[in-house]
Amino acid sequence: MTANADSHPHAHSQGKLQLDSKDFQEFRDYLQTVAGIDLGHNKQYLVATRIRRILIDYKCERLGDLTRLIKNASNQDIRQKVIDAMTTNETFWFRDTYPYLYLQKSILPELAAKPGSSRIRFWSAACSSGQEPYSVSMIVEEFIRSTMGRSEIPAEIVATDLSSQILESAKQGAYDRLSIARGLSEQRLRDFFDHPAEDTWQVKAKVRQRVLFKPLNLQDSYLLLGKFDVVFCRNVLIYFSADLKRDILQRIHGTMKPGGYLFLGSSESLGAAADLFDMIHCSPGVVYKAK
Ligand SMILES: C[S@@+](CC[C@H](N)C(=O)[O-])C[C@H]1O[C@@H](n2cnc3c(N)ncnc32)[C@H](O)[C@@H]1O
Repeated sequence: MTANADSHPHAHSQGKLQLDSKDFQEFRDYLQTVAGIDLGHNKQYLVATRIRRILIDYKCERLGDLTRLIKNASNQDIRQKVIDAMTTNETFWFRDTYPYLYLQKSILPELAAKPGSSRIRFWSAACSSGQEPYSVSMIVEEFIRSTMGRSEIPAEIVATDLSSQILESAKQGAYDRLSIARGLSEQRLRDFFDHPAEDTWQVKAKVRQRVLFKPLNLQDSYLLLGKFDVVFCRNVLIYFSADLKRDILQRIHGTMKPGGYLFLGSSESLGAAADLFDMIHCSPGVVYKAK
């Protein structure tokens, strides 16, 4: 420890945490290895803000102490807490509208009309607190209702995320006033939510039942997931390097049924994986069809 006031043992509890650049580099490399997340340079402030609490809880005086702790295989809990703190879970209902409109108007009618069509399978590949897979499930529900039950198509939505903490809350399907205010119409709130407490709205069992939550790091194998008709991989590839992004998109392509549909975030593109998909304009927005 140096004589610098910022490296005083209690510096972080006084709101003065500063990260030494060697410690930052080591932490950054580690996060890239375990979670694929590329923090880039000059993100000391972001790291300091997000992991201040963990440093205090685990009595780490420096970021380097924490990196050493999480590198130790027996400290799974702390590692998960650090990953949870460093991932951005921003999400909301029916995000960007167009994927859900296209699903409703084009993809579901097409899949439901397929002769001998079996279960329709969706994958929400970085589902965060569940708004994305539940929005898909609501669209499926509305589709079934619009055909007056004639299309009681079985559908399954596999929802995965790296953060086990966020998955726990996603499984509950319970949201506060702030969350339900983001992207839900009053009609959908009435149709698809119970209101068990003053500040709690819970997705109805019928909508939840279709969604199967599982932890999955997008860097790991997808072999056990099976094949999908539609994949939502939205607002997560931005964290990864170009090489990792290409690798993930190639493996996602491997999970898709021929002609399956892929939605990326509205500001994301296929980059080096463009050869694997055809781009369809659904104005606004685009969807990618697996070749
Ligand atoms: C910004 S949210 C996107 C949520 C949703 N797809 C949407 O567009 O609204 C990004 C999510 O990616 C998850 N994530 C980050 N790195 C991941 C990885 N390596 N594997 C799986 N999920 C990851 C985070 O935990 C977070 O919940």
